[in-house]
Amino acid sequence: SGQALYGQYCASCHQANGQGLPGAFPPLAGHVQEVLAKKDGRAYLIQVVLFGLQGEIKVKGQTYNGAMPAWEAQLKDDQIAAILNFLATGFGNKPPAGFKPYTPEEVKKERAKKLTPQKVYALRQALKL
Ligand code: HEM
Repeated sequence: SGQALYGQYCASCHQANGQGLPGAFPPLAGHVQEVLAKKDGRAYLIQVVLFGLQGEIKVKGQTYNGAMPAWEAQLKDDQIAAILNFLATGFGNKPPAGFKPYTPEEVKKERAKKLTPQKVYALRQALKL
């Protein structure tokens, strides 16, 4: 399940409760909903999991400048969709009205873009989070 995959691949940094560690690993609890609320935020979440992220970001008033690892080699399309569907509603996140679950097909489409962590950072800047 998405929850089990989160526990296996993400919780070591973002923590079992999704709160992250201030200054080191950003929270996903209460934050994934902020990303999903932005135009293109839905695709950005796929991109950051597939290709990683490098660059200074601010989440809930805290600054982070670490390296989010890329998972394109380890995780299949259906696994990434499952993790993102868990995060969209898990940890108290409330997705936007009309939110439809992620599908493996849309992960496959993003995978074909072969982005870098730096390019994902540029796309994050464009979201105006
Ligand atoms: C950032 C999800 C695993 C470290 C992020 C962001 C998301 C995310 C959505 C972007 C937040 C934003 O742009 O506001 C996930 C998921 C994981 C995972 C779903 C499992 C598949 C990990 C692991 C680590 C990690 C294992 C540590 C080795 C980080 C760091 C950032 C980050 C440091 C911020 C990067 C920066 O400062 O530019 N993660 N993450 N993540 N993640 Fe993860």
